[in-house]
Amino acid sequence: MQEKDTLIRFGISMPQTLMEQFDARIVEQGYDNRSEAIRDLVRKALLEPSLIRGDQLAAGTIVMVYDHHISDLPMVLTELQHDYHREVNSTLHIHLNAKQCLEVIVVRGIVSRLRELQQRIQVQKGVYYAELSVTHVEGGMEDHTHDHPHTHSHHHEHHHGYGHGQGQGHEGEPSL
Ligand code: NI
Repeated sequence: MQEKDTLIRFGISMPQTLMEQFDARIVEQGYDNRSEAIRDLVRKALLEPSLIRGDQLAAGTIVMVYDHHISDLPMVLTELQHDYHREVNSTLHIHLNAKQCLEVIVVRGIVSRLRELQQRIQVQKGVYYAELSVTHVEGGMEDHTHDHPHTHSHHHEHHHGYGHGQGQGHEGEPSL
């Protein structure tokens, strides 16, 4: 998709009340028209991690909340991130309260590996929440086309935020 993509027009049938709810919502969000709102919904749906093939190359985040008082959990989580050091680009750690930590891991790699890491984190005792969000698929939709000025997601692939200012010193080591 190097060239500007062809726009296809098509009709959608929808119950009136659903359409009215949708229109009210997109006006609130600042959309000028339904088409752009629907395109964004489709793009979001296509980035749903479960719909992306395991062999695709992607970037995204794993967000997790855990209890750092659970015996060796912080060590286990650090070990895990070292096991996936090629996929883990950066880690941001926030001490939520006396007990809980919020961690955002920026990941980039083969989707099956990213899923594997998320699952290995999720199953640890003391991890309350662990979710993988895929925000960019390499060579995916519209990788090189810019037919709409409102979406900026694909302009960010060269920004690497090393946001690991606080906490454990060995976090966020550069991947090789
Ligand atoms: Ni903490």
